[in-house]
Amino acid sequence: MSMQIFRTKHYLSNEHSDHGLKRCLSAWDLAFLGIGAIIGTGIFVLTGVAAATQAGPAVVLSFIIAGFACTFAALSYAELSSSIGGCGSAYGYSYVAFGELCAFIIGWDLLLEYSIAVATVANGWSGYFCNTLSAMGIPLPVALTKAPELGGIINLPASAIILLLMGLLIMGAKQSAKANNAMVFVKLITIVVFIAVAAFNVHVDNWQPFMPFGWFQTLPDGKTTGIFAGASLVFFAYVGFDAVSTATEEAKNPQRDLPFGIVASLLFCTVIYILVSGLLTGVVNYTELNVSSPVAHALNLMGYTWASALISTGVIAGLSTVMLVLYYALTRIIFAMSRDGLLTAFFNKVNPQTQTPVRVIVICGVIMSLIAGFIPLDELAELVNIGTLAAFVLVCFGVIVLRITKPDMPRPFRTPFSPLFPVLGMLSCGALMAFLPSVTWLRFIIWLVVGLIVYFSYSMHHSKLASEA
Ligand code: ALA
Repeated sequence: MSMQIFRTKHYLSNEHSDHGLKRCLSAWDLAFLGIGAIIGTGIFVLTGVAAATQAGPAVVLSFIIAGFACTFAALSYAELSSSIGGCGSAYGYSYVAFGELCAFIIGWDLLLEYSIAVATVANGWSGYFCNTLSAMGIPLPVALTKAPELGGIINLPASAIILLLMGLLIMGAKQSAKANNAMVFVKLITIVVFIAVAAFNVHVDNWQPFMPFGWFQTLPDGKTTGIFAGASLVFFAYVGFDAVSTATEEAKNPQRDLPFGIVASLLFCTVIYILVSGLLTGVVNYTELNVSSPVAHALNLMGYTWASALISTGVIAGLSTVMLVLYYALTRIIFAMSRDGLLTAFFNKVNPQTQTPVRVIVICGVIMSLIAGFIPLDELAELVNIGTLAAFVLVCFGVIVLRITKPDMPRPFRTPFSPLFPVLGMLSCGALMAFLPSVTWLRFIIWLVVGLIVYFSYSMHHSKLASEA
């Protein structure tokens, strides 16, 4: 463990990290990375589903509840990313706080979170992209827009966008950040336009009844509903601020800038979400929002037909940045686990020209592109949520444990009101996990069991830190 701390100090202080990743990201690059990863399917799609089927107009409360849980977690991430560092995020922090087995499991969990999130978002992106092409009069053949199980040959746009992002990530973190910043700008404009238009079209009657589904109930088919269940679903909208912490080794001044990037992007997005979800249910009755593009739908219903095109542009740009940042985070976590010997050393190489881990980027890109192209991905947002929430619980717990076991570790950023805030983070994230349906729990447990098999059959015997110790 002490080796890991030594190593992570090294990550934080060197101009280049010890495996050659380039330090090129500023505080604003990091905040924009966060906003890039956060605003996406959650607000553009899931808000409508959650309002129509789980929370009604009180979906705004679901966003506030999920936002609270994330704020506690974000403060914990800020502390550990600035004091421990490393591109492994929760994996690296768990290594220092709890040891290797726990770290491996959480790293394995993050692989699930990020890869499924990227493939799922690619499917959503493809839907919007195809609609836009159709609206322009150049539709793609249907067979090239659906997975075989849905009657097509391949979901080509979903597959292709991942390969395109792969090229961008290979070019370098700075280039990716520049592209990300431009696309984040486009999606923010879209949101500002929606807020400006919607603010003048609210009908307060739409907010009645405010809580048609109550706080929480389990339905006979095992599904859950109510404001808390809505919070567990719209939590997906917040997934991504944690991805900023994987940029530690590419940040110019990680101790100062990471806490800023993580906390600023989360708070900004929380305010946006409260405004958008409140207005959305104010301009249209919640019963009409169970559609694939509720924001565009609402604008259409208000008579702003041009808005559909605008929203599509925003969503296409917005979902691209979500995929870009989560894909980036996935590669950095695999890189970190491989560097520690827990995954094959094949991944543990940085290309000297681009200073990026090209092998990991290519392998992840090809696998996710195949998954997105050939497997229909419905209802997987909740699987991403459970994985992310598990990581948040451990990061909050890690803050408490390390304050006791390593009181003298330098902490450029300290979570305020510790241990109260980390405990609240654990409780609120744990509760959001509990509100998820049983089928999500089952899928999650199966993935963890596979992880344990990998750990005991491979990783344990190849761990570099264990053998050095
Ligand atoms: N937060 C990201 C989204 O909503 C994952 O798409």
